[in-house]
Amino acid sequence: MNFDKILQGRRSIRKYKKKAIPWKKLAFILDAARYSPSAGNLQNWRFIVVDKEELKDKITSACLGQKWMNKAPIHIVVCSDNSTIDKFYKSSKFPTQNCAVAIQNIMLKAHTFGIGSCWVGAFDERAIKRDLKIPGNVSVEAVITLGYSDQKLTMPRRLDLGTLLSFNEFGNKDSDSMFPLKK
Ligand SMILES: Cc1cc2nc3c(=O)[nH]c(=O)nc-3n(C[C@H](O)[C@H](O)[C@H](O)COP(=O)(O)O)c2cc1C
Repeated sequence: MNFDKILQGRRSIRKYKKKAIPWKKLAFILDAARYSPSAGNLQNWRFIVVDKEELKDKITSACLGQKWMNKAPIHIVVCSDNSTIDKFYKSSKFPTQNCAVAIQNIMLKAHTFGIGSCWVGAFDERAIKRDLKIPGNVSVEAVITLGYSDQKLTMPRRLDLGTLLSFNEFGNKDSDSMFPLKK
């Protein structure tokens, strides 16, 4: 699969087949996280792989009852170990940003194996910490569901580049001084 196909073809999957993910594939998917960049190379991301039905049920209710989640064969609970981060980057955005980039690597790697995923960010952190025995210095950053997709989806609307870009000042859409020869 070429890179653009991987980027553009990944979708958030919320309907999964009852088919297990082979451990070897799961290991490769998780390993992709290790290559992510991180502030100060702190690599604060930690991953709890959950396959027990009763725990997935608990995670599903902690994720504000997003009922589709417990049909996914695997939940990856993405945590941040903040014990080192707090020393260097107290109250910065880095812990979350580092985990976010690792999550993207995981989801894209899963997609290359034909495995669907969904990033779930709406959850009751206290409930997940309690249910999975996560210690105090570790925060929950996201849950990723993983499994073989049982739905075909088209890409939800993307804003065009013109909406996203400014040149030299926020909101300035005139790029002529930057790219005088572009026409
Ligand atoms: C930070 C973050 C939080 C998200 N939280 C949820 C969530 O709680 N539940 C859900 O179903 N999807 C969630 N999503 C998935 C988005 O809804 C999805 O990425 C978006 O609609 C675009 O669709 P696509 O991923 O198929 O391109 C989240 C995505 C991100 C990046």
